[in-house]
Amino acid sequence: MTCIANQPILGIETSCDETAAAVVVDRRICSNAIFSQTEHSLYGGVVPELASRNHIRALLPVVDRALSEANVELRDLGGIAVTQGPGLIGCLLVGVSVGKGLALGAGLPLVGIHHIEGHLFAGAMAHPDLLPPFMALVVSGGHTELIGVSAWGHYERWGRTRDDAAGEAFDKVAKILGVLREGEVTMGGPPISALAEKGDPEAFDFPRGLMNDPGFDFSFSGLKTSVLYRIRDLAEQALAGMRADIAASFQAAVIDVLVDKTLRAARAAGVERVLLSGGVAANRALRARLDAGAGKLGMGAFYPPAFLCTDNAAMIAGAGAFRLARGEVAGGNLTAAPRLPLPGLRDRQV
Ligand code: KG4
Ligand code: ZN
Repeated sequence: MTCIANQPILGIETSCDETAAAVVVDRRICSNAIFSQTEHSLYGGVVPELASRNHIRALLPVVDRALSEANVELRDLGGIAVTQGPGLIGCLLVGVSVGKGLALGAGLPLVGIHHIEGHLFAGAMAHPDLLPPFMALVVSGGHTELIGVSAWGHYERWGRTRDDAAGEAFDKVAKILGVLREGEVTMGGPPISALAEKGDPEAFDFPRGLMNDPGFDFSFSGLKTSVLYRIRDLAEQALAGMRADIAASFQAAVIDVLVDKTLRAARAAGVERVLLSGGVAANRALRARLDAGAGKLGMGAFYPPAFLCTDNAAMIAGAGAFRLARGEVAGGNLTAAPRLPLPGLRDRQV
């Protein structure tokens, strides 16, 4: 079974708390269905068991929606791509099992996709002119990775977080500041960035982790602790008037290191394009700063629209179209891999 180019590919994504399915033809999105789980807000964080059970209930209806919105049936597909890892094991298992069942039933080729490769392909789908080589910063609630893309499928790791992911820092600070929106547990970024627009980014001098380190790794746990201590030291009334300043100063600290390291890595790699992807790439201030910085260096900066930055299945289908076209088809032994290494990734040679 090989996949024929230009045939629709069904993508399935269930690595965390979004149940998503999408149909793409090459890099064109025909449908992009998503069900975002909200009950986790009752517990203050994503509950893996609850997330897997929700995927079981939601996935087939979401797949149906993706197929009908794309106006295709299973038999019209050229293949199925499913997120194999990394992620929560129980959640991944639901997607992989459904993907295998559908592929087997319809006689279609199946391919397992690495979630981060999906975030890289989100850039390609949004910007057909984004051609390798480029430097990609994948920043989400679970990842902060600086990846050099020399060609699709050939990746070099320049840096990664040594502790918290950048999005995780946004989520934790939103919780500490008490600004999470009703029913939200994992989306601290939007309320923090909205608040930051009304604050002074220089009001507090929060630490820029590893900023002076010559390498390209990140660290956000010191920043988070520093925000926590600052809030603890402020009296309740004082805090009320300073939330926006804290949000703005925190966001500035995150943006400073993300932009500095990404542009430094891009220069060192000698590439002319940078891609920002993953949930945190939806941050407008981060986009603006990277745009300005890249512009000064004569580089192009690319960002997918917000719906492709946060977890979605279109990006998984896009990566799947690439891998299936190369003849990569999983066997019946495909299984969820919570710590899956990115295929084609090597550490930077220094
Ligand atoms: O890619 P994603 O949907 O899921 C993961 O793979 O983690 O990313 C979600 C993360 C959350 O941490 C959320 O707070 C962050 O992306 N995020 C933002 C913004 N929108 C979402 N962070 C900063 N600014 C935003 N506007
Ligand atoms: Zn993600």
